[in-house]
Parts: sequence; structure tokens; C-alpha cells
Amino acid sequence: MDIKNTAKQFDKVALEYDFVVSLTEKQDDILVKSMPNKRNQVLDIGCGSGNKSILLSKYFEHVIGIDISDSFLQIAEHKKNAKGIKNIQFINMDAEKMDFSEKFDMIISRTTFHHLNIANVLERCVSLLNNGGVIYIKDNVSDNPTPAKWTYIVGAFLEFWPDCKQYGFKNAKRIFSHNVSKDWLSHLASDIYLSESDYHKIYEKHLPSCNFIREGWAMNVIWKKI
Ligand SMILES: C[S@@+](CC[C@H](N)C(=O)[O-])C[C@H]1O[C@@H](n2cnc3c(N)ncnc32)[C@H](O)[C@@H]1O
Repeated sequence: MDIKNTAKQFDKVALEYDFVVSLTEKQDDILVKSMPNKRNQVLDIGCGSGNKSILLSKYFEHVIGIDISDSFLQIAEHKKNAKGIKNIQFINMDAEKMDFSEKFDMIISRTTFHHLNIANVLERCVSLLNNGGVIYIKDNVSDNPTPAKWTYIVGAFLEFWPDCKQYGFKNAKRIFSHNVSKDWLSHLASDIYLSESDYHKIYEKHLPSCNFIREGWAMNVIWKKI
């Protein structure tokens, strides 16, 4: 899918997606534990509504978050300003065409790499990283590259009552509505995920001896540049 269509898809779901991830996102223990000692500049690729960039702003001097969806970037900017955060810069930039003169101590990305040419972007990330810096990527992993629509719908029903208990009926209803919405399901139908063995093949080629940590639907990849 071309970048304009990807951006359009995300623009449509940005508000409800942000509501769901902001409410349901678990602790970022692996990300925090992976942070390098030197914490000057960090880059968040596909920053979306900015939750990870905001977390990073507590640990790094300066954060840059890039994304191609204006709606997501507006939400991110709004949250940053509401919290009075001064050390984050959100930029509309395609990860495939990253243009920076500076280097980074850490580059992170969450649930975005399946939209990218992984090999090209990883090579660029390696060149943008300072020695001693860390790349941390969390993305979907699945034996089925594009799970069928019905599996998401069944999943949404199965999660409804546990979500009611955890987040209350009103919030659970909103999560459910997002998860089964036409826009979100049609976005998911265009996603293509890597299997666990593909992760090893592709990532080990570009990030030799990287660490893999599987967490259910997600794979965490951590690599330090020596
Ligand atoms: C599933 S969202 C994840 C957002 C955020 N990282 C999070 O965890 O909530 C994927 C994000 O990747 C962005 N994206 C997709 N293709 C991109 C590209 N080529 N360059 C930059 N961002 C991209 C989308 O606009 C969207 O905000």
C-alpha cells in the first residue's frame, strides 16, 4: 500500500485508536530496561499519538517522534502541550525517507515496522545510531501473515467481558466498537505480519546477535551497536 493510503487509513482511526492504546497499554518494562546509559537523543519511528515519545521524554534529553498521519501527530502535539512537555519534537516524516543530520542514542518503534520496507529502514537506523546506542522494535508476530477478519471479531467479543471488569462497561463498549469498526478491520486486512522464523531471518541479517523477546502477539527486538 502506498504511503498516502496508509496515512489516510490511520487518519480515520486515530482518535479511537489513541483512546484504546492509552487505556489498555501495559507497562513498558522491556523498553525501559533496554535504554542505553547515554540518553541524549532518541527517535520514535511511527510515533502515532505519542504515548511512547512522552514516556521517552522522561528519560532522554531530546525526543523526536516521526509519523505520516497528520491526525495522529495532532493528537500527539495536543498531549505534549497539555502536559507541558518541552523536549519532544513531532515531525511528519516518512520512515522510508528519514532525513536527519544528527545521530541518536536510541531508536524505537512500536507496531509500525510491518508497514515498512524492514531491511531498508533497519539499515538506515543502524547508520543513524551512535556507537553504544540501542535499537528497540516491537511489532506484531503471527504464523498467519494476514489473520482473517472474523478472528478479530471473535477476539473483540472474547475481550469484551474481561474489559468490562477491568475498564468498566462504557470504556469496554468503546474498545469493542473500535475493534470491530469497518475502518479498523479494513486497515487490519491490509497488514502483513512476520512469523517468528521470519523475524530471525530478517532482523538477524541487519542487527547481528540481536535479542528477541516474544510477548503474545508481539515480538520485541533489541540490539546494541558496539
Ligand atoms: C499501529 S500505529 C502505532 C502507533 C504508535 N507507535 C503506538 O504504538 O501507538 C502505526 C503507526 O505507524 C505510522 N506509519 C505507517 N507507515 C509509516 C511510515 N512510512 N513512516 C512513518 N510512520 C508510518 C502510522 O501513521 C501509525 O501512526
